Amino acid sequence: MSLLSVENLRLSFRPEDRPAVEAVKGVSFSLEEGETLAIVGESGSGKSVTAMALTRLLPAPPAHYEGGRILLRGRDVLALSEAELRGVRGKEIAYVFQDPMTSLNPVFTIRSQIAETLRLHRPELSPGDYDREIVYWLNEVGIVNAADRLKSYPHELSGGMQQRVMIAMALAARPALLVADEPTTALDATVQKQIIDLLARLQQQHGMAILLITHNFHILPGLAHRVVVMFRGQMVETGLTDDILRNPSHPYSRALIDCVPKIGARKHRLASIDHAALSAAG
Ligand SMILES: Nc1ncnc2c1ncn2[C@@H]1O[C@H](COP(=O)(O)OP(=O)(O)OP(=O)(O)O)[C@@H](O)[C@H]1O
Ligand SMILES: [Mg+2]
Repeated sequence: MSLLSVENLRLSFRPEDRPAVEAVKGVSFSLEEGETLAIVGESGSGKSVTAMALTRLLPAPPAHYEGGRILLRGRDVLALSEAELRGVRGKEIAYVFQDPMTSLNPVFTIRSQIAETLRLHRPELSPGDYDREIVYWLNEVGIVNAADRLKSYPHELSGGMQQRVMIAMALAARPALLVADEPTTALDATVQKQIIDLLARLQQQHGMAILLITHNFHILPGLAHRVVVMFRGQMVETGLTDDILRNPSHPYSRALIDCVPKIGARKHRLASIDHAALSAAG
């Protein structure tokens, strides 16, 4: 049985005051234990919506799950109760988002934020064990002098260190799947590379699966075994990373591969892509 199997997922937003948006139009993929799959696509293609749907993080309404199934070790996430979902979110599937400052709380220390993960998801630990466990995870993500960082606040850390703390916080729950949604987009190129290498090492050591979301094909070699390419809510190509990088079959994949993002660009639109031509190509 796969760790995660998404079958023909369809999802729309139907805000009261605006026209409906079909954000995900029939996406299917599966992920094995310990594997890394990347979802690649430009801004607005439905990557984050797909990722958040995995634990039903999107408020419904306005989100509507129109169809399909999301099977986590065979259990249909779309059929779980809110109480059951609380046992999945953060514990079985943990998230790291692009901007640490939206996930780290500025008024709490690093220690108290990771302790909260432990309190929620590691009932076998007693509070007396927390500091040791927190220092262990801060070391794991490459924070030097970890013990001295316990009392730091998020703003006292660099962007790269904040992202490392986010990863420590997610992994401290020992999830089966880490969803990393553009974990390096806000960072400069050198730090991006460090974070990608860190994820690859952590996966070897801890064995969790990773769903990596990005618009940058070039960070994938060495980390993501397989890729799903999304375009306007649809899956346009899937296959082994090396195969697609060498020989993309869809013109949109080719355009993404040819587009090398500007260093330090926080968000970038793929201005070079001719959307009308791609739509015609299907
Ligand atoms: N809460 C919401 N209400 C209405 N529409 C939404 C909502 N969230 C996302 N959408 C729409 O769903 C579509 C997919 O958005 P999504 O955030 O998944 O894109 P993305 O691929 O993650 O892009 P980015 O690279 O910019 O993060 C977009 O058209 C977006 O405007
Ligand atoms: Mg996104």
